[in-house]
Amino acid sequence: MMILAFPDYLSQAQRLAARLDVPLAEIVLHHFPDSESLVRLPPSLPEHVVVCRSLNQPNDKLIELMLCAVTARELGAKRLTLVAPYLSYMRQDIANQPGEAVSQRIVGKLLADLFDDVLTVDPHLHRISSLTQAIPIKNAISLTAANEIGAFLKQQFKSAILLGPDSESKQWVSAIAENIGFDYAIAQKKRLGDRQVEMILQDCDYRNRPVIIIDDVASTGRTIAKAAGLLQAAGNDDIYAVITHALFCGDAYEHILKAGVKNIWSTDSIDHPSACIKLDALLADAIKAIAR
Ligand code: R5P
Repeated sequence: MMILAFPDYLSQAQRLAARLDVPLAEIVLHHFPDSESLVRLPPSLPEHVVVCRSLNQPNDKLIELMLCAVTARELGAKRLTLVAPYLSYMRQDIANQPGEAVSQRIVGKLLADLFDDVLTVDPHLHRISSLTQAIPIKNAISLTAANEIGAFLKQQFKSAILLGPDSESKQWVSAIAENIGFDYAIAQKKRLGDRQVEMILQDCDYRNRPVIIIDDVASTGRTIAKAAGLLQAAGNDDIYAVITHALFCGDAYEHILKAGVKNIWSTDSIDHPSACIKLDALLADAIKAIAR
């Protein structure tokens, strides 16, 4: 087995390779002036190649992933595994208006055509229950970072309320809270636009204990900022946030801090200074299980 790492996921892939005790090669990328990509792999590959890259900022990354996968097959890889802790295009699972592309199905099919296995972490599945419905291959594997996040929080806090900012977050927040014996509450959210959300907190006494807002994705940061504002209005100013996939588009990170969140932590699904919760052990165990 060999790990092939895109440069934007290199440090995480190095930790994964060390855990698996397998060789790693960095994929060489060149961007031409017109923004086309050149992708270069090692000229000789083993039978099983694990390609690692989170698919945030996906439009260029997906093209490069396609060039990589097709080339890896041409160079002799018989089994191609994709490790993409963040999977993009999973949110649009229906056409909300006639004529809209259902990107989850289309991108899912592309990945299924290119790879034998796809491993990801807490994908944002809304109306479907299993990742194989989005990526139609047997080994479309959805892992969860709930244990890693729970263990991290247990080290930081003796007790706290975990707050999920919308109904979809209940699956992660309840699992983490039950694992570590913390209380949790789930807010109701309505998205009015890309950067505008309305929210109502669950009725609960939020005072006198730290509150940790937990979400799978922070994109514009408006969801977490709105939750922080409501918590302050409810008498709490000891507020933290944990995010699985820190997309942090534009001013998101600063916006969350300005909203009164004291500290933001994320997993290393995406490289960022806040990424202190490492996923290599989770990913390594999953790779070992499928490679048996
Ligand atoms: C959506 O339901 C997700 O769970 C997140 O709450 C959402 O993607 C966060 O987006 P933003 O940071 O732009 O508010």
